[in-house]
Amino acid sequence: MVPPKDARPKPVQWLLERTDPGLPDPIAPPSMLRVDPPAHTRYRRLVTKPFNHRAVEKLRERVLTETDRVLVDLAAMPAPELMADFAVKLPVAVIGAILGVPDDVRPRLADWGTSAAPLLDLCPSWPAFRTAISGLEEGAAYFAEHIEALRRAPEDNVLSDLIANGGLDDRELLTNAALLLGAGFETTANLLGNGIVALQSHPEQCELLRADPTLWATAVDEILRFDSPVQVTARVATCDVTVEGQDIDKGTVVLILLGGANHDPAVFPDPDRFDVTRPNAREHLSFGSGIHTCLGANLARMEGTIALRALYDRFSEITLDVVPARRPSVNMHGWAALPAALIEQPTFTY
Ligand code: HEM
Repeated sequence: MVPPKDARPKPVQWLLERTDPGLPDPIAPPSMLRVDPPAHTRYRRLVTKPFNHRAVEKLRERVLTETDRVLVDLAAMPAPELMADFAVKLPVAVIGAILGVPDDVRPRLADWGTSAAPLLDLCPSWPAFRTAISGLEEGAAYFAEHIEALRRAPEDNVLSDLIANGGLDDRELLTNAALLLGAGFETTANLLGNGIVALQSHPEQCELLRADPTLWATAVDEILRFDSPVQVTARVATCDVTVEGQDIDKGTVVLILLGGANHDPAVFPDPDRFDVTRPNAREHLSFGSGIHTCLGANLARMEGTIALRALYDRFSEITLDVVPARRPSVNMHGWAALPAALIEQPTFTY
């Protein structure tokens, strides 16, 4: 078996090799994202159950409660900013619950997740790289202690179950906790932010959703297709292979442009049209495919549907105050800030 290569450019690998080797890099082995079977099968089996359909349904109440809490705060703010005050807060609360992180540490979780996002880029800037590494260092120190605390006093959460199961050593636990944080938070925050911008720029699609709320599930898939939170994934060819007439040598790193595939006119007619009734919206590749397909897809869809619907149910008017600008990260595709004016539904009661 060919060991999975690092798809990042040589200078980035060189820098990473010179950082603390104890750091839990969410996209380097033993992260499940970067290992092949049999190690991948072992990790995936251990963490699949907490993310299956039934387990995600059990998290529904939590997502509804957290959404409500976030929206109550939002309604009371004189100058809400929909990335920091909405899109980031909900996924952090949910991933915090999954990892058993207390409420007062959540703002730090958000900082670590956001600062680590540029590491998924092909060429992060030097300042972004340094910020990401210090975020990883802080996060690693916190999680090493947190894992020890959960080992001594187990709680009712996914990380505690993984520790109690005993199937992962400390390094595997730390790296895969970092992966769950990195993969589960920034992506979902960008799904929510990208959704708001798509809906605000297509008011007629908003009207369709207000008239028929059953369309929300399809709308979330259309948002994922139209403006994909993860633009690129990668694979290493384990043998010489020809794909669509293109020869790929064994060992070659292949970058897969998920965002591009999601605009393939052969699959999605008129692909640049945002259409919340698109019959095959769910066929997008935003969660990847194959054995590494996103573990949190059910959860992300559920969070996206509940949160966006609740936002548009509660506020009859949402106006973005500025033309939004993109975050500096290329792969993790989202908006930097969405300052907005919000007007509550006249009939809305607490
Ligand atoms: C809109 C939200 C999300 C998007 C767009 C997304 C996207 C992705 C993508 C593109 C991959 C790589 C798939 C591949 O290379 O084939 C992935 C893997 C993964 N995602 Fe997500 N993700 C999201 C939310 C989540 C959440 C909420 C969690 C968990 C809490 C999560 C956990 C993971 C894990 C653990 C992997 C690695 C799976 C493996 O290697 O077997 N993701 N995700």
